[in-house]
Amino acid sequence: MKNLNNKNCFITGAANGIGKSFALALAREGMNLFITDIDLESLERVKNEIEDLGATVYSGLCDVTRIDHFKSISNEFFSKLGHIDLLLNNAGIAIGGSILDITLDDWKQVLDVNLWSVIHSLEVFLPKMLERRSGHIVNVASGAGIVGSTEPLPYVTSKFAVVGLSETLFGQLNSYGIKVSVIVPTYIRTTIFDKAKIKYSKELINDVGQEKLNEISRDLLKDMQSKAMLPDRAVKKYIKGIKEDQLYIYDTKAMLGILTLKGTNPHQYETFLKENSKNSEKTTRAHYLKYGIDIEKYRIG
Ligand SMILES: NC(=O)c1ccc[n+]([C@@H]2O[C@H](COP(=O)([O-])OP(=O)(O)OC[C@H]3O[C@@H](n4cnc5c(N)ncnc54)[C@H](O)[C@@H]3O)[C@@H](O)[C@H]2O)c1
Repeated sequence: MKNLNNKNCFITGAANGIGKSFALALAREGMNLFITDIDLESLERVKNEIEDLGATVYSGLCDVTRIDHFKSISNEFFSKLGHIDLLLNNAGIAIGGSILDITLDDWKQVLDVNLWSVIHSLEVFLPKMLERRSGHIVNVASGAGIVGSTEPLPYVTSKFAVVGLSETLFGQLNSYGIKVSVIVPTYIRTTIFDKAKIKYSKELINDVGQEKLNEISRDLLKDMQSKAMLPDRAVKKYIKGIKEDQLYIYDTKAMLGILTLKGTNPHQYETFLKENSKNSEKTTRAHYLKYGIDIEKYRIG
């Protein structure tokens, strides 16, 4: 979709982070927007900013875990804007911690938001795209959806699923005139990690205390975030990829190097996965040691 001007877009998770940056950048491209989120206060602020740019914008509550929300908001979308050109499935969450401390409810919550959001969205929007034989579906996955990483396990699982779904639809929908892209962000400075619940072992909570653990992880996140790319910069790259109808949209070239390794040298890729995990453990251990805590004796993700 080379020209976005006067085209219609629906976005999930548009109140903060990447979704917010997308909404503002797409408004500047002349798109008509329908922005949604569960954080209605922040969403209203984004809507006001878009209105200040002179673009057409509607907003509403859409909890992506709820098909009833998608059904009613898509009806509202079509009655206001007529048809859909760009469907941006962006909402996502993370819950951190070791596999031993993450509960089945945590798994369900992450998969409901990160994976079922896309399935729900396709259920209400895809038939309309097929009727017109046009439209572009963009799913925001993660670099953690193409390379086994040190991100939390339910997060990685959900993102690999979104990547697989996107790649398959890319092929299947091509002959119907519908484009599919999957964005695989690396590390972007947004609110996702501040909001992420982190699960610890009972022993660690007993010995250190939940409050102290929260403080330690906030401190670790602050450090990581200071090195992360700003969402506006990342979104510029993502929009270029959308305009070029790319299947995979990256923000960092380093990701291509890792993928090449995965394809051409599986043994070296295995070494990379092991080293990556070891390095992450080392960093986390060093961080906790600053607080006088040796986490080697505790399970931690
Ligand atoms: N920030 C990163 O480093 C990074 C890296 C890779 C992938 N991503 C992905 O980018 C997407 C956007 O994340 P972000 O980093 O901007 O995070 P963010 O937390 O800043 O924004 C996510 C938005 O999703 C909304 N949301 C959460 N649960 C929801 C629900 N049930 N229904 C509707 N909206 C809901 C939040 O209210 C928030 O506005 C996510 O899919 C995330 O997994 C982010």
